[in-house]
Amino acid sequence: MSDELTYGEIYAPIYEEYITVQGKVAEVGETVAFLARYCNGGSALELGIGDGRVAVPLSERGVKVDGIDNSCSMLKLLAKRTDLVKAWQGDIAHFSSERRYNLVYCVYFTFALLFTREAQIACLRSAAQALDDEGVLVLELGVPGLDPLVGGQKTTTARLVNHENTILNVSVHDPLTQNLVSTLLWFSGTSVRRLPQRVRYVYHQELDTMAECVGLELTERWGDWARGAFTERSERHISVYRRRSP
Ligand SMILES: C[S@@+](CC[C@H](N)C(=O)[O-])C[C@H]1O[C@@H](n2cnc3c(N)ncnc32)[C@H](O)[C@@H]1O
Repeated sequence: MSDELTYGEIYAPIYEEYITVQGKVAEVGETVAFLARYCNGGSALELGIGDGRVAVPLSERGVKVDGIDNSCSMLKLLAKRTDLVKAWQGDIAHFSSERRYNLVYCVYFTFALLFTREAQIACLRSAAQALDDEGVLVLELGVPGLDPLVGGQKTTTARLVNHENTILNVSVHDPLTQNLVSTLLWFSGTSVRRLPQRVRYVYHQELDTMAECVGLELTERWGDWARGAFTERSERHISVYRRRSP
């Protein structure tokens, strides 16, 4: 991954097209319905808010949504869409907010873009501090695929193939840091786009342990936004944490 450009700066120019192709626009209704239950028309903070894919429709339901993102370009996309959502530029690993929220949420594998264990724990700590007494933290994360992850090996997986688009993910795995350094190759028509990214994958039980370290406890875990069960075949989980009672 380029050291100069963040995920947001790389993806902002093609973000809307990219999330549409990936099916992330189609699932927004279910995502927002899931999240809205936890804030009862109150307040929410999105970590890595992007262009407001989720925040904008959530705010249209009467929730006061704030957001954080480290990418100017993403924040510009958001500002073009709405003035209902207040967002500021910052690092989701290290933030503090005077306001306390009913809901803090981080969706679409954004948490994994924090590619060190320390940054991930710091993010959970900052999020816990931003919750009001009854508040919940909701995280959506992929379940790491085990098959191709032999130490140091280069792996290629097809992320999407349809008659107009082919998206391949070519990764190098560092098992010591649980990092996958990847380039997405997106073929469409006659163009090929190269989109670098780095993630630190994390298993759900490791996530629970990190959350416990900062005073949070798991209260629910689902396999999708429609509250389907989380099973051994799930490719992602949606996990809900609350502050542990003293
Ligand atoms: C996968 S996109 C998700 C955007 C939006 N949440 C959505 O669901 O469509 C990840 C977002 O997190 C932002 N981001 C990545 N790392 C960040 C960090 N350390 N601090 C703040 N924002 C970050 C990116 O700029 C990008 O907008």
